[in-house]
Amino acid sequence: MNKDVESIKVFIFSIEVGTLAYDKTRAISYFQYNNDYLASGLYKNIFPFILQRIGQTQVFREFQEYTFRGIPPVFADSLPDDFGNQIFNRWVKEKGIDKKELSPILQLAYVSNRGMGALEYFPGKKLPKATKINLNVIVDVLKQVLDVKLDQKEVELNDLGLLNIFKIGTSAGGARPKVIVSEHKKKGTLLAGDLEYNDSYNHYLVKLGMGTDGYSRELVEYGYYQLACESGLHMMLSKMIDGKHFATLRYDRIDGEKKHVLTATGISGYNFQNPEVSSYENVFEIAHNLNLPSADMDALYRRMVFNYVFHNTDDHLKNHSFIYEKESDRWRIAPSYDINFALNALAKWSDAPHSLSLNGKRNNITKSDLLLLAKSYSIKRPKKIIEEICSSIPRWKDIALNLDIPKQVYQSIADEFKDLDRI
Ligand SMILES: Nc1ncnc2c1ncn2[C@@H]1O[C@H](COP(=O)(O)OP(=O)(O)OP(=O)(O)O)[C@@H](O)[C@H]1O
Ligand SMILES: [Mg+2]
Repeated sequence: MNKDVESIKVFIFSIEVGTLAYDKTRAISYFQYNNDYLASGLYKNIFPFILQRIGQTQVFREFQEYTFRGIPPVFADSLPDDFGNQIFNRWVKEKGIDKKELSPILQLAYVSNRGMGALEYFPGKKLPKATKINLNVIVDVLKQVLDVKLDQKEVELNDLGLLNIFKIGTSAGGARPKVIVSEHKKKGTLLAGDLEYNDSYNHYLVKLGMGTDGYSRELVEYGYYQLACESGLHMMLSKMIDGKHFATLRYDRIDGEKKHVLTATGISGYNFQNPEVSSYENVFEIAHNLNLPSADMDALYRRMVFNYVFHNTDDHLKNHSFIYEKESDRWRIAPSYDINFALNALAKWSDAPHSLSLNGKRNNITKSDLLLLAKSYSIKRPKKIIEEICSSIPRWKDIALNLDIPKQVYQSIADEFKDLDRI
């Protein structure tokens, strides 16, 4: 093989699914299914779109945008986004890895069996074993890593600090600082990462309160979580840690087992940074093509209504995911996550646009827009869903007061709510 072509084996549920290769000079990727996997007939639907179930090598020249780094979206979904990449770049610099050696395959080798979902990549880069961690220490080290650019001065990072953050901060996607931790169910101790994924641990994704926003976005996210649960959205059990960090149980680690999950971007190849493909119609179309049960379509609809009523504008295609059920070889909707007031609550807004459009619009959404989509996808009792969500509007103030969210913050958020039952 040409020396510019690197490859890595892809596994799921301990089965080798195939080999992914990437040609650095030509920026082209290749995927070849493992014949035994194809012949076994197992888990036929793990990559429902884009990849074909054929024995021949498949070539991918598209997917050149940064979101995909030149590889098929199902695998690009295992790579970190903005936050994880900042840590990754710092790691590369600190370890003296030559920029020319960087490739999506090298990054997947670092993800190895530490990624979100159930896809694993081998051979992986070995990192020392999990250690106990203290989130506040992590936050201090992270501040150093993230501030480097701001104050232009070089910071000495101790190796252990950077290693810990590298191991647990580069798995999940998203832009905000976050880490993956495992909490012992009885002892409450926190371990870095999730390599101890068995039933004695709860696995959390923790969004870290860095204290840099002038108010706690994490506490507001916790308030939104309570509001969403009261409005009938299904979310993973979440809690605050030390009153600062928002921790949510992972839907891709259930009863000590890894679940195969993909974001709407990863499953479909619709780039979440491309407004042209960023619409609720596309999310519903993906869900429809996955043959989701009607209860899941209704849940997606309820989430959309919530996002418009409570002005969660950051509703992009990576903020919707799907979970694969290996027993039935079918897909389901993942619980809602990243439900928050994503704008700066200390600034004044006036119907800022959503990432996802509906009926060609990103703001000024009306009840008839919501009802039109319900009709296209046979959503049952959409009017009742809209009414139920809108009836939670007054609950925000109580929730916020109970959490000691400052008045200036909860009030300016409330000013953006839209009672779509009346508009
Ligand atoms: N409870 C969860 N279980 C498993 N994976 C999750 C969970 N919550 C979020 N994720 C995954 O982690 C990613 C990052 O989480 P989240 O969207 O909450 O972070 P964020 O930094 O606020 O994102 P954004 O860039 O959209 O602001 C999500 O896109 C999703 O793939
Ligand atoms: Mg997100």
